[in-house]
This record gives sequence, C-alpha cells and structure tokens, in this order.
Amino acid sequence: MQLTVNGQAHTVEVEPDMPLLWVLRDILGLRGTKYGCGIAVCGACTVQVGGAAKRACSLPVGSVDGEIVTIEGLGSADAMHAVQEAWVEHQVAQCGYCQSGQIMNAASFLELNDAPSDRQIDDAMSGNLCRCGTYPRIRAAVKAAAVKLRSA
Ligand code: FES
Ligand code: FES
Repeated sequence: MQLTVNGQAHTVEVEPDMPLLWVLRDILGLRGTKYGCGIAVCGACTVQVGGAAKRACSLPVGSVDGEIVTIEGLGSADAMHAVQEAWVEHQVAQCGYCQSGQIMNAASFLELNDAPSDRQIDDAMSGNLCRCGTYPRIRAAVKAAAVKLRSA
C-alpha cells in the first residue's frame, strides 16, 4: 500500500483495516500523533488527510485518500507552522498529551476560516479534549495564529 506522509512516499505492508494511527506510530515511527480513546472521541490522534482533520485511531489505512500530514510535518524544515508558533508564544501545553491533535485540528480549521470569532474557535476545537483544561490558552493561540496567517 502506498502512502504519502509529510511529503514522503512510503510503501507499507499492512492490512487495509489497520487504523492509520498504528501505521503512523508503529510502522513509520511517527509518534507525535497520540492514542487517547481509540473511538474517535478525544481528538488526540488528529492528523490531516488531504488537508482535512481526521481521527487516525478510527480511520482504516485502506480508506485513506490524500496526503497525510502529521505534527512532525506541519511546519517546514526550517520554520514552525504559524499555529505551532502561536502555541509556543501562548505556552498552551501542560502535560502535552492532547496537544499535537489540538494543533493539527487548529491548522485545518484555520485553512477554512482565518478570521474566526471566539465562538467559531470554541466550536471548531470542542471535539478535541484536554484533561489539563488548556482551553482558554488554545483559544488565544488559535486567534494569534489566525493573525499570523492573515499577515503571512
Ligand atoms: S484516540 Fe482517536 S479520537 Fe481519541
Ligand atoms: S495538555 Fe494535558 S491533556 Fe491537554
């Protein structure tokens, strides 16, 4: 099976019903994408497929249609993505476990709406759970990332 992940082509010998999350973590060694609930509820496993945020724990690899981007590939080789920059500036993370999923979801959301209201941010991010309660800082960082993206 052929996959393109973070701009690199890979051939993986796996069953098509294997969740994408395990292909990324166990076959390709990309462990920035986290396992939380395993049932598409928490968002810890969020990656982008064809630009859209997807839950890798519940996405059979055989159904993947489009380039996959994980947290390891969100920025360029020499610069972080605007969302990552904003996350650092706002010191969003606490334990960090949910944060790659949060960032990947935020990056996909901002591709669709780079001038979101607080309500739109809260709605877009509401499916990504954070046990540490970093939601106020997530909202601030998404707003800051939107400003960065608009001025880029
Ligand atoms: S681990 Fe995929 S949504 Fe929770
Ligand atoms: S930062 Fe700990 S779960 Fe979100």
